[in-house]
Amino acid sequence: MRQIYLDHNATTAIHPLVVEAMQPYLHTSFGNPSSVHWAGRSVRNVVEEARKQVARLVNCEPEEVVFTSCATESNNTAIKGVAVSKRMKGKRIITTAVEHPSVLMPCYYLEHFGFAVDCFHVDGAGRLDLNALAGTLTEETILLSVMYANNETGTIFPVQQIGELAARRGVCFHCDAAQAVGKIPVDFKACNIDLMSFSGHKFYAPKGVGALIVRQGVKLPPLLHGGSQERNRRAGTENVAGIVGLGKACEIAADTQAVEAARLQKLRDRLEQGILAKIPDVRPNGDLDHRLPNTTNLSFLYVDSDALLSCLDQAGIAVSSVSACSSGTLKTSRVLEAMGVAEGTPMGTLRFSLGRANNEADVIYVLEVLPEVVKRLRQTLH
Ligand SMILES: Cc1ncc(COP(=O)(O)O)c(C=O)c1O
Repeated sequence: MRQIYLDHNATTAIHPLVVEAMQPYLHTSFGNPSSVHWAGRSVRNVVEEARKQVARLVNCEPEEVVFTSCATESNNTAIKGVAVSKRMKGKRIITTAVEHPSVLMPCYYLEHFGFAVDCFHVDGAGRLDLNALAGTLTEETILLSVMYANNETGTIFPVQQIGELAARRGVCFHCDAAQAVGKIPVDFKACNIDLMSFSGHKFYAPKGVGALIVRQGVKLPPLLHGGSQERNRRAGTENVAGIVGLGKACEIAADTQAVEAARLQKLRDRLEQGILAKIPDVRPNGDLDHRLPNTTNLSFLYVDSDALLSCLDQAGIAVSSVSACSSGTLKTSRVLEAMGVAEGTPMGTLRFSLGRANNEADVIYVLEVLPEVVKRLRQTLH
């Protein structure tokens, strides 16, 4: 059976050149980068080379790169760290209702320690009202955490304007860029970001490695205390092979991102337009003018998303699903709920996220299979 993977916002296959670059550090070059002898020194150098590759992709200084295990760790380090270091200044944290749980959960955790968290709302297309956002930043606000691009809808927030706003108000700005880095150009300096998180496995590096970019001068206690690795910002022996892989994936993204984004956008648009033309009662979600080039999020009215996902899976098509249903009996997406999409008619929602392995033939196959599946499921529902 054909296998078509359209869930690249969940995770990606490691790029063959990344596998090749990592190989020696899984086997022959095994030194600990903290060791001063020859075995450690050679490995220390490759970690520093990877730091430069990351810095080049996101336009920051190499010294600002802290290697972590994933975006979840980076988000926790940023949010809890700012809370600890700025607790004497204020106790308010502003974030958005559509953030990933790895941002929302640490924020809610901090409520147990007296911090107040405001989840700023989005409109029906998942957009933020920047004027209203500006109004929420008070003297008491110590942190503004806003994602770069939404994992479910692909909606891209105006991060540069948000960064300017935070800088004008003297509020620390954390940006979860897990869905943006490697897919679209991300400029840490130009966006006035103080802290930025991402994960390697979203753009062809292995799982288990990520980064937190910490602007020079931002005081941030570590989440993990212990050794002095990562200039005392993240204790624990470095995941050398993973770090080398992340560096290589950044280098590849810097070289290929623009061309690949244009190719994926064309494929994504073909897929989306094909679905809208062939299947009645389908609604695209998110800000269609500002979204990731590889992502489309579509609600299919009168269909259960779990059934939809399962039928597609049986045909070898891997996508991600979220139900949106006003009855509350189905699992609902927080993101779609925040956008008001979940109100009214029952519907199943699918996220298609394309990547480097996808081509025209994949789109044609989905356009053959999906209309039949939706038709069949709608018949059984009525
Ligand atoms: C926007 C966003 N932030 C953070 C994460 C967490 O990434 P990880 O599971 O690699 O820690 C994800 C993962 O899907 C994500 O999409």
